[in-house]
Amino acid sequence: MAASYILLLSALLALAASPAMAGDPSALQDLCVADNTSDDMAASYVLLLAALLALASSPTMARDPGALQDFCVADNTSDVFVNGFVCKDPKLVKAEDFFFSGLDEPRDTTNKVGSNVTLLNASRIPGLNTLGISMARVDYAPFGLNPPHIHPRATEIQTVLEGSLYVGFVTSNPDNRLVTKVVRKGDVFVFPQGLIHFQFNLGAKPAVAVSGLSSQNPGVITIANSVFGSKPAISDDILAKAFQPTPSSSPLSLPWLLPRPWPAIPVLSRTLFVNGLACKDPKLVKAEDFFFSGLDEPRDTANKVGSNVTLLNASRIPGLNTLGISMARVDYAPFGLNPPHIHPRATEIQTVLEGSLYVGFVTSNPDNRLVTKVVRKGDVFVFPQGLIHFQFNLGAKPAVAVSGLSSQNPGVITIANSVFGSKPAISDDILAKAFQVDKKIIDLIQAHF
Ligand SMILES: *[C@@H]1O[C@H](CO)[C@@H](O)[C@H](O)[C@H]1NC(C)=O
Ligand SMILES: *[C@@H]1O[C@H](CO)[C@@H](O)[C@H](O)[C@H]1NC(C)=O
Ligand SMILES: *[C@@H]1O[C@H](CO)[C@@H](O)[C@H](O)[C@H]1NC(C)=O
Ligand SMILES: *[C@@H]1O[C@H](CO)[C@@H](O)[C@H](O)[C@H]1NC(C)=O
Ligand SMILES: *[C@@H]1O[C@H](CO)[C@@H](O)[C@H](O)[C@H]1NC(C)=O
Ligand SMILES: *[C@@H]1O[C@H](CO)[C@@H](O)[C@H](O)[C@H]1NC(C)=O
Repeated sequence: MAASYILLLSALLALAASPAMAGDPSALQDLCVADNTSDDMAASYVLLLAALLALASSPTMARDPGALQDFCVADNTSDVFVNGFVCKDPKLVKAEDFFFSGLDEPRDTTNKVGSNVTLLNASRIPGLNTLGISMARVDYAPFGLNPPHIHPRATEIQTVLEGSLYVGFVTSNPDNRLVTKVVRKGDVFVFPQGLIHFQFNLGAKPAVAVSGLSSQNPGVITIANSVFGSKPAISDDILAKAFQPTPSSSPLSLPWLLPRPWPAIPVLSRTLFVNGLACKDPKLVKAEDFFFSGLDEPRDTANKVGSNVTLLNASRIPGLNTLGISMARVDYAPFGLNPPHIHPRATEIQTVLEGSLYVGFVTSNPDNRLVTKVVRKGDVFVFPQGLIHFQFNLGAKPAVAVSGLSSQNPGVITIANSVFGSKPAISDDILAKAFQVDKKIIDLIQAHF
């Protein structure tokens, strides 16, 4: 009896997770900043179009699933594993399930990086279960750093309560643009879902900030810990190839606190940007819009890491727009590496066509567990959304794999490029503190990107 009840419950929860029509649409690119300059007719057409596109893209599931009842307070006595938590009997729900006390108390920041995050996710506040939101308090020691990290499942909106912070995020490949700002008490800053970001206390006094996060369990991947501190460790062969730290002498000294504008980009006059791409007149749609030819052709892998990814996203196959999926071919040179990277907006499912690969991903904090497998022709492996993963060709012959990705624009953040090769560079002071190594080593690695 109990077992079939549990099965029924899981099925219902699974169902509950599918029709997430109530939430905002999922992001289809890193940035789609609102344009408030529209005021004429053409502009309202544009707004309508954007609204329609937004609607079209709602049920893509990159967010937490939408709630189907007022609440579903987590039942922490259940040992059933579902997506989120099993609901407590609504009759037993109390105000305390939606409550936490003491977020005003300063936290201990005497650790290596000089910061301390208190995350109130659905484990801490059971009433958050299925509601798609959580909150964090961050304490910063004088010159303390919340080191470069990612929330695989959430966008973060942060306000400073005390002190002033130098904050930033890095956009995905190929731009790896570093966007930074100095924020002070009362200021608010947004860190988009899945992008690498950090905060650094500029003052000689402690600083405090509070954030809202758009998931009941945003997850945290601290780049330094995940890449260099996974359990078991990622092979140093793989990391050496990914980070390319061979000797070079170009000491950098960055006046990094001065405002550093993004590299100049020509601004086109009144180009229309929406979430994803605008739709073509349906009457003009052709079979070619859903078609690509030549994915069977080997790609050139004569580059530093020895791999080449051919991504067929909505730019390459326009018919994919709003459909939430894309495909990639990956070619590996003998002993070639597809270096540690993240897809901020997609889960990847990959099958090996030729050769054998050593593949792996690292779970988020606090475990940073490295999950690896050797996969051969015909094998299939899954890399969950937002987690750091890689593939390494174990053979002396080229290897090939094909992947499906659960976004029309999965995005790629190659950890080495984003962290050490952003434009402009992330200050070596910040990276030295995050990776706990000398600034000279950081400069040396940065010189390679
Ligand atoms: C549009 O946004 C800018 C800041 O990005 C602001 O200065 C301006 O007042 C806004 N205009 C309107 C019409 O809201
Ligand atoms: C479950 O939550 C209650 C408070 O909501 C707490 O007192 C109890 O220790 C928790 N039990 C477990 C197993 O975490
Ligand atoms: C954060 O602060 C709490 C309370 O002050 C402390 O128990 C915890 O060990 C601190 N965590 C870190 C990572 O320093
Ligand atoms: C909540 O966050 C803590 C780390 O702060 C983590 O250990 C825990 O698994 C998270 N719980 C969930 C499932 O929301
Ligand atoms: C990938 O292969 C294509 C075609 O062989 C080539 O044009 C491109 O430069 C290669 N990219 C990299 C990163 O090596
Ligand atoms: C598709 O991927 C390429 C990189 O492979 C990227 O430059 C482009 O912006 C992506 N297009 C979209 C909008 O999906």
